[in-house]
Amino acid sequence: MSARYPAARPRRLRRTPALRRLVAETRPRPEELILPMFVKEGIDEPQPVESMPGVVQHTRDSLRAAALDAVEAGVGGLMLFGIPAHKDERGSAADDPGGVVQQALRDLSAELGDDDTVLMADLCLDEYTSHGHCGLLTLSGDVDNDATLERYADIAVAQADAGVQVVAPSGMMDGQVGAIRAALDHAGYTDVAILAYAAKYASAFYGPFREAAEGAPQFGDRSGYQQDPANATEALREAELDIGEGADMVMVKPGLAYLDIIARIADTATVPVSAYQVSGEYAMVEAAARQGWVDRERAVLESLVSYRRAGARQILTYWAAEAARLLR
Ligand code: PBG
Repeated sequence: MSARYPAARPRRLRRTPALRRLVAETRPRPEELILPMFVKEGIDEPQPVESMPGVVQHTRDSLRAAALDAVEAGVGGLMLFGIPAHKDERGSAADDPGGVVQQALRDLSAELGDDDTVLMADLCLDEYTSHGHCGLLTLSGDVDNDATLERYADIAVAQADAGVQVVAPSGMMDGQVGAIRAALDHAGYTDVAILAYAAKYASAFYGPFREAAEGAPQFGDRSGYQQDPANATEALREAELDIGEGADMVMVKPGLAYLDIIARIADTATVPVSAYQVSGEYAMVEAAARQGWVDRERAVLESLVSYRRAGARQILTYWAAEAARLLR
């Protein structure tokens, strides 16, 4: 008789919602979600980003309101990206004390206490340079690694002066974490933390971001500094180097197509591992949902669970505020 029945029945624990809740291993927490936000200089009204329905380029005022709303929703952090009114070869606006991100950081740190949220800023040059590359160029048009490090050091200090708690260098220059750590320490900002974009791939999934942040390279691409999607081992080395240089947290980006990378780094890293659910991932789900082809909320939550299951703790996502509300 026993031959007629399966000996093991995993379905038993899937039978009711209560049983499924009881045995669920993974649940993203609102406190671990980080909302990336765009703030643009010189606009009077928030500007919708066409390729990212629901995402806008904020004015100073609308940023403040949206930040308060996200904190209300329970998100753990805010990551600011700035779009300056004027770009030049060296991205001068990036470390200008009156620059758009520095202003926004001052606004938000006046509004929000240390207990409310963690204020973070992307630290890069692509939104600020006329050529759209993440660093200074040599005469032949290559990105000059070591000259760029000096720019990053100045930007870190300008952001710290404006009240940032965590800087997030995303330019993939060699030695960037060490250079930024030294500059912050030298300026007395020993408590400002570094969330390093450690493994950042040259990805097609950044497409919509280039519209949102107006940082598309004017010539060439970023394959000379961002990683080749073919490589995994290199990501382990990048994370190891960043941790060695003083990164307090390391990030993998994008996430969904790189869950293996998240899992491998999370296996060995001795600092929290974060992941960035990038603009293209957001756009894909939003576009398909608009057609009625996927259930939007389920797809959003399922993707966040998959990040968490892979080993990411903090998740940067444009859905952070909404997802935080759904998860509460
Ligand atoms: C560079 C930067 C990029 C993103 C975050 N920081 C673009 C790039 O490297 O080309 C992409 C984020 C996204 O796609 O959501 N400062």
